[in-house]
Amino acid sequence: MKILLLGNTGQLGFELERSLACLGQVQGLDYPQLDLTRPDEVRQLIRAARPQVILNATAYTAVDRAEQEEALAMAVNALAPGVLAQEAHQVGAALIHYSTDYVFDGLKGSPYHETDPTNPVGVYAVSKLAGERAVAQNTDVYWTFRTAWVYSTRRECFATKVLQWSRQQTRMRLVTDQISNPTWCRMLAEMTANLLAQAKGDVYAWVRQHQGVYHLAGGGYASRMEWAQEILALDPNKSEQIVQEVLPAKVADFPTSAPRPLFTALDCSHFEQTFGLTLPFWKDALRLAFQPGR
Ligand SMILES: NC(=O)c1ccc[n+]([C@@H]2O[C@H](COP(=O)([O-])OP(=O)(O)OC[C@H]3O[C@@H](n4cnc5c(N)ncnc54)[C@H](OP(=O)(O)O)[C@@H]3O)[C@@H](O)[C@H]2O)c1
Repeated sequence: MKILLLGNTGQLGFELERSLACLGQVQGLDYPQLDLTRPDEVRQLIRAARPQVILNATAYTAVDRAEQEEALAMAVNALAPGVLAQEAHQVGAALIHYSTDYVFDGLKGSPYHETDPTNPVGVYAVSKLAGERAVAQNTDVYWTFRTAWVYSTRRECFATKVLQWSRQQTRMRLVTDQISNPTWCRMLAEMTANLLAQAKGDVYAWVRQHQGVYHLAGGGYASRMEWAQEILALDPNKSEQIVQEVLPAKVADFPTSAPRPLFTALDCSHFEQTFGLTLPFWKDALRLAFQPGR
């Protein structure tokens, strides 16, 4: 299988490059060799590579900064996925794209299904939904996986920040009213590779057979506070922690440029019923992620 992986140094992209290696020839690219704000170069690159599968692990993920950099967020998250879909269609490749729980406004009060109405709040969220739509409008051979609260142990994210704060502060305040599915990027990457491995020689037909948007995130859900407490409990170097108290707070206590939807847990049953696979419970994945040597 000839695979073009865009964004191979990001949280997810780094893991995808490892997970996809057994499936064939993987060409991994990232900024600055690849700049999604230059669509003509992106088109040329895909036409030259002629891959069978394109995986888009790139994104403009700075949720707050996006409020000031709307044009850039839209270029990377909304316009570029449309270009990728057009080129995938042109060269006969399947497109695997990733999106976010933030396409929802968080007001439903229970886990979201793919059929629930979207209502993104904030520039990042709006740009990601526009990207989903651009993919669907330009190819029939795609999977868009909406995921949530992606973390790694090698690139800055909520999990690494909690560990850092625990070494700098004796008292930490974590919000209890923001809730979603913590998702270890390696599990997401391995699931993607697992699905592609099932293509049995015709990845285009396999993706087309099940094309569409799927929710795919860590099993169960948690508040930021519950997630942080588990991170602190599983910390492989717990003796370095100086934190003594973890106090509850509300999202409203920490004003940010971009609004945060409160309850955006994703219901992944459509994915499970379609493919017969499921990502592990979020606490089990976190335990694996924090095992020394991972
Ligand atoms: N992180 C989360 O909590 C979260 C939650 C829900 C959904 N998601 C979605 O999951 C997917 C993977 O996210 P992630 O957390 O792995 O993201 P990430 O770690 O921020 O990685 C994104 C990658 O995209 C690259 N990139 C940004 N702008 C680019 C440009 N103009 N041209 C080329 N490359 C560019 C980045 O390069 P640089 O590092 O050089 O900027 C980086 O390598 C994304 O679709 C994201 O929206 C993430």
